[in-house]
Amino acid sequence: MKVLVVGSGGREHALAWKLARSPRVRTVFVAPGNGGTAIEPGVRNLPLTDLNALADFARAEDIGLTVVGPEAPLAAGIVDLFRACGLRIFGPTRAAAQLESSKAFAKEFMHRHGIPTARHASFTEAAAAHDYVRAQGAPIVVKADGLAAGKGVVVAMTVDEAHAAIDDMLAANTLGVQHNSGGARVVIEEFMAGEEASFIVASDGKHVVALATSQDHKRIFDGDRGPNTGGMGAYSPAPVVTPNVHARVMREIVDPTIAGMRAEGTPFTGFLYAGLMIDAQGRPRTVEFNARLGDPEAEVLLMRMESDLLELLLAATEGRLDDVELRWDRRYALGVVMAAHGYPSAPRKGDAIAGLPAPDAPPVDGHVFHAGTVRADDATLRTSGGRVLCVTALGESARLARQRAYELLQPIEFDGAQWRRDIGHRAVEPR
Ligand code: AMP
Ligand code: GLY
Repeated sequence: MKVLVVGSGGREHALAWKLARSPRVRTVFVAPGNGGTAIEPGVRNLPLTDLNALADFARAEDIGLTVVGPEAPLAAGIVDLFRACGLRIFGPTRAAAQLESSKAFAKEFMHRHGIPTARHASFTEAAAAHDYVRAQGAPIVVKADGLAAGKGVVVAMTVDEAHAAIDDMLAANTLGVQHNSGGARVVIEEFMAGEEASFIVASDGKHVVALATSQDHKRIFDGDRGPNTGGMGAYSPAPVVTPNVHARVMREIVDPTIAGMRAEGTPFTGFLYAGLMIDAQGRPRTVEFNARLGDPEAEVLLMRMESDLLELLLAATEGRLDDVELRWDRRYALGVVMAAHGYPSAPRKGDAIAGLPAPDAPPVDGHVFHAGTVRADDATLRTSGGRVLCVTALGESARLARQRAYELLQPIEFDGAQWRRDIGHRAVEPR
């Protein structure tokens, strides 16, 4: 079978790498892909991003399955389009992807279905938003309603920060949020204390299969400080998700979400990612939903997945997920993101990358997944985006996985590279 992965980041490199290992897969196309997928065995880049062009390609090439990595094509309706063309695709429809693309939709949905999350109010008028912040006090969380690649959120420790965030999101928009129809809107939320975890499931609209648990590091600097990013590193499993927490998440969050979407006539098919906040009593609440795999969570999850990903996705597109049980490597996987100079606000492009493992290097329990890289005309690998690489490794413990990932990273160089030295600290030094 020929398969198609839509996207160009580390998550899509990991999806393509994993699918290429399936005995039933002949070629994996990645559209548009990156400098890593360009040379991954069994994988080919396809320089297309237009959705109609992708559907034409899928028909002409007899693509047996398409899987979508990022949120933007989902929110633009790629799944609806492919299905209308009779093409098999794994992902949520545009209506179901609103769980991610509209924070206001997600919050109202959770409210309707009794799914635990922070209290919130949403505003289009700055004056009313400012009044609300004055009444609530800090800490408080201000979120832009729209797609912002994880950057449209300000966790304000003071009311002044919250006021500034409101003005920015409703007027200046220096974060570059893609607003939903109806214009700029902010959601203001109660601050939740606790530890975060990423809980990702695959759903066929009715049944779910939970993937392994994971955690990422959203802040740019060590010690979880500095601005939010798309994710600076991740590891799996997440020790905070004990068996008891896992059972509560399924019962209180995942099952009611899948049942609620189905009952509302917009069944959720695809990867559903619940970003959780787990308090000191082990009570999980939803921070956000994403309608896709996380990045860099996908890199560590797919490194640990022993089952055939193709079989999972085929079963999901046929409503057979009640038949599927996934097998996972018992080891930890840990991935460290190397980001470009200036990330997250203004990543620089064009820096030459050196020191990657040679294609014929002896196999290690790890892989360097590419994100913002391109092979320039001179065949040099160069940076082309904010997050550049995700250096991922397996180890018997979180500590060993971390050690191996940093060993793999050590020879890799590009000007202005930024990476955190403390990925996995919560798993290495549990409280
Ligand atoms: P989001 O894009 O909604 O996931 O928010 C990005 C990050 O902001 C989350 O991963 C949390 O670290 C933080 N955050 C968002 N909402 C809250 C909240 N209500 N309370 C505490 N932290 C939050
Ligand atoms: N790593 C967070 C995300 O993918 O949204």
